Amino acid sequence: MTKIAIITGGSRGLGKDMALAVARKGLDVIITYNTQPEAANEVVAEIESLGQKAAALPINLLKISGIDAFVAALSETLASKYEGRKPDYLVNNAGMGGNIFMSTATEEQFDEFLNVHFKGVYFLTQKLLPLMNDGGGIINISTGTTRFVNPGYSLYASMKGAIEVLTRYIAKEYGIRGIRANVVAPGPIETDFNNAAIRSNPALKERLASLTPLGRVGNADDVGGVVAFLCTDDAKWVNGQRIEVSGGINI
Ligand SMILES: NC(=O)c1ccc[n+]([C@@H]2O[C@H](COP(=O)([O-])OP(=O)(O)OC[C@H]3O[C@@H](n4cnc5c(N)ncnc54)[C@H](OP(=O)(O)O)[C@@H]3O)[C@@H](O)[C@H]2O)c1
Repeated sequence: MTKIAIITGGSRGLGKDMALAVARKGLDVIITYNTQPEAANEVVAEIESLGQKAAALPINLLKISGIDAFVAALSETLASKYEGRKPDYLVNNAGMGGNIFMSTATEEQFDEFLNVHFKGVYFLTQKLLPLMNDGGGIINISTGTTRFVNPGYSLYASMKGAIEVLTRYIAKEYGIRGIRANVVAPGPIETDFNNAAIRSNPALKERLASLTPLGRVGNADDVGGVVAFLCTDDAKWVNGQRIEVSGGINI
């Protein structure tokens, strides 16, 4: 039976590439979007042109109270469009960046990063796991900045660090169901992320490239294939791991 992957934040950037890469492996896909339904629908059309089923559902992880409505909409979509099949993989990718120094961070900003990058991931995963098939996996998208320090990223990287710990707990608590949990930690990638910080700042881009043995910053298509690999049985013995996909920055 064709497996299903759910990819949050699949409307653009890394999530879009993950969705397409997973579809190329022969999985059906459900992506989520927040503000860009048109972009999400284009991704759906692209996946369908690859011969796989696809759908896009809205979720705003800033609002934890919206998770139940998302789960209900997902169940309805699985019943109506995916023959009632259960999802096999969940990729927690949606997120935003921000350069916020600790000296200026507000409690409101703290709560935004907490909700999108940790609390939302925690409760979305908790609520989806009972609906998922055994034998699949959770992939949590973290960041290189949990390993090395990028001043201004204290809120962002702290929450990402939390999901790295959570990932190992998922691996331990759900291993009994054959569910694997892994982290993929991208280095700097040129997307819309953090107000397109890399794309709009050539000096920053050059500096980050100079820190990277492969001599450039990443592109969205540097990451999707790694996530797609984790969504296959080729990765059936990879569990509880953090895979950094960063061209070796700051080694
Ligand atoms: N780019 C990098 O340098 C980099 C490096 C390391 C890790 N990452 C991580 O990789 C992931 C994807 O980043 P990206 O570069 O692809 O960013 P991006 O191009 O800005 O795309 C962000 C995605 O997340 C969704 N999203 C944003 N805020 C959301 C919210 N409050 N609730 C639900 N969905 C939301 C967006 O949906 P809409 O488009 O519909 O609004 C979009 O699909 C993030 O977790 C990020 O932390 C990125």
